[in-house]
Amino acid sequence: MTDIIRDLETLRSRVRAWKHAGETVAVVPTMGALHFGHLSLVEAAKTGADRVIVTIFVNPKQFNNPDDLAKYPRTEEADAKLLAPLGIDVIFAPAAAAVYPVGFATTVSVAGVSQGLCGADRPGHFDGVATIVCKLFMMTGAELAYFGEKDFQQLMVVRQMVRDLAIAVDVIGCATVRGPDGLALSSRNKHLAADDLKIAPQLYARMCKASNQLRRGVDVAEVLAEVRADLLQDGFSAVDYLELRRASDLQPMPVCDGPARLLAAAWLGGVRLIDNIAV
Ligand code: PAJ
Repeated sequence: MTDIIRDLETLRSRVRAWKHAGETVAVVPTMGALHFGHLSLVEAAKTGADRVIVTIFVNPKQFNNPDDLAKYPRTEEADAKLLAPLGIDVIFAPAAAAVYPVGFATTVSVAGVSQGLCGADRPGHFDGVATIVCKLFMMTGAELAYFGEKDFQQLMVVRQMVRDLAIAVDVIGCATVRGPDGLALSSRNKHLAADDLKIAPQLYARMCKASNQLRRGVDVAEVLAEVRADLLQDGFSAVDYLELRRASDLQPMPVCDGPARLLAAAWLGGVRLIDNIAV
């Protein structure tokens, strides 16, 4: 089984030894409840660096709803079993009190890309993400960091933070891993009822159809309105957002005249699903 390290001193001395030997170090930040989406990041990290640290930390600062935080699955033993065959070097799983000791007073806040989309529906969420990702970069000392495009806005927030603060980390974005039906893998999928699992793949299917229409030059507002209506028809209870944004900086794109990203968040049976695709 992989070593699980919980304290910063042990982690640092391990990383120091690797770097002293001239080895490169990658980090894959996660909140646990691992699935094949997470494992794809780990595989990419394994090919990109000599040493791989997977962090497992359910970050209280990025939950704006205490109920969500309490309900978040904590499955460390199963996670360690899933990671074992991949041959990573360390699981870093610190306690919340070690990451945020009494008196912790710093917040990293990234403007621009944090606004709108998930930032509008989850106030404070991206401050929480930026703060923990920054701290995990500092704690691990990694030179490479792997994130999923599944959380595209998060990836953009991390990239902006790394640029702005000149953090010496290469951020690598990895493609979204999907089930055979197209549904993006997510730890939330296990909360979907059997009937809803049949409806859920429609989110991606509708987005793919929209992407094709946008490529063909159909009016953006018209396409988005149609997809919204279709999703509600399919059985989704609400669409938090469905937007076309510029791929490079997530600025709104009323006209599709360059590389874009279609991003959506929709509710199905009390579960909030997000997805995004390139246009
Ligand atoms: P978590 O939701 O555990 O996701 C960890 C990483 O796995 C993120 O980079 C996410 O984009 C990626 N991921 C999730 N599902 C994926 C899929 N289907 N395909 C590819 N990658 C996928 O995202 C977080 O944790 C947290 O916000 C974190 C960055 C760890 C900060 O707390």
